[in-house]
Amino acid sequence: MRIASNTTEIANAVAALRAGEVIGLPTETVYGLAADAMNPAAVARIFALKGRPLDHPLIVHIAGIEQLPRFAREIPNSARQLAAAFWPGPLTLILRRQADVPDAVTGDQDTVGLRAPAHPLAQQVLRAFAGGLAAPSANRFGRISATRAEHVREEFGAQLPLLLDGGPCRIGIESSIVDLSAQTPRILRPGAISRAQIEAVIGTVAIGVDGNSPRTSGTLAAHYAPRTPLRLLPRDAIHAADADSVQVLALGSVPAGSHGIALPADPQAYAHSLYDTLRCLDARASALIVVEQPPDTAEWQAINDRLRRSAAGAGAD
Ligand code: TXA
Ligand code: MG
Repeated sequence: MRIASNTTEIANAVAALRAGEVIGLPTETVYGLAADAMNPAAVARIFALKGRPLDHPLIVHIAGIEQLPRFAREIPNSARQLAAAFWPGPLTLILRRQADVPDAVTGDQDTVGLRAPAHPLAQQVLRAFAGGLAAPSANRFGRISATRAEHVREEFGAQLPLLLDGGPCRIGIESSIVDLSAQTPRILRPGAISRAQIEAVIGTVAIGVDGNSPRTSGTLAAHYAPRTPLRLLPRDAIHAADADSVQVLALGSVPAGSHGIALPADPQAYAHSLYDTLRCLDARASALIVVEQPPDTAEWQAINDRLRRSAAGAGAD
């Protein structure tokens, strides 16, 4: 696997994409496994690499709002307003798709997820490629997302012909997903762009998945999971008694007598390091990871969402 870190490698990345290969691509949220969205064989390679069920749709990454009509056949005002406010950035819009977007990308649904990522390397590749890149997070299905090039290398090694190293991802958790394909706008996955920020632009939105919502694998109960069992506990329930077999992910400081790692009690800083820290704690091969429960407030919503799913999926192999 070649590790690329400068713009001279952009041309190699684009050549690989044109040849139907899958590459490791940094974005500001998490690393992606990217392939030409209009090439079903290339998209099939993403699913094979990830071990992802075929009916789970992929986000199509585009350079900017000007490419929306290439992939979406109906573009409501709300989509234009949100794209104008937050693109390039960590927001995915679910819209009615153009007929020629491959079924493999959309999971056979009539909708497509679209996002313009802000990472400069992703932008350079997208502009040079001049098309859409289907890209899920660069982790095996159900596992912890990758926020550093090393994580992608650990998961996929030589199976990936090219990995662009864009450094640690600035945001660290996946994009917010807003479904604009139905009557009522609905947040399907909370992320760095908060409900309040979205509502400030388009008015009231619903949140959570209802019976009519499209399939979103990020909404499976078990996701983002380490191999070590993981539990969420309030700080006063974290006891030093089992200190030798437990690793703690704490807020602010590790409680006296416990072992583990503390992350800042600030949601942005916490999100930035969350997956890297979970990977570190998982590698310590303890019997249990205990995560100190963050506050149950709006600014921690996306993080609490990921932590709950980590706890639900952890320990399985
Ligand atoms: O920040 C992100 O969104 C990262 C980076 C790489 O862009 N990508 C990401 O991809 O998190 P992935 O595949 O791990 O999660 C994308 C989510 C999935 O839960 C998928 O089901 C949902 O987006 N999705 C994609 N297209 C959809 C559609 N047409 N309808 C409903 N959900 C969709
Ligand atoms: Mg994912």
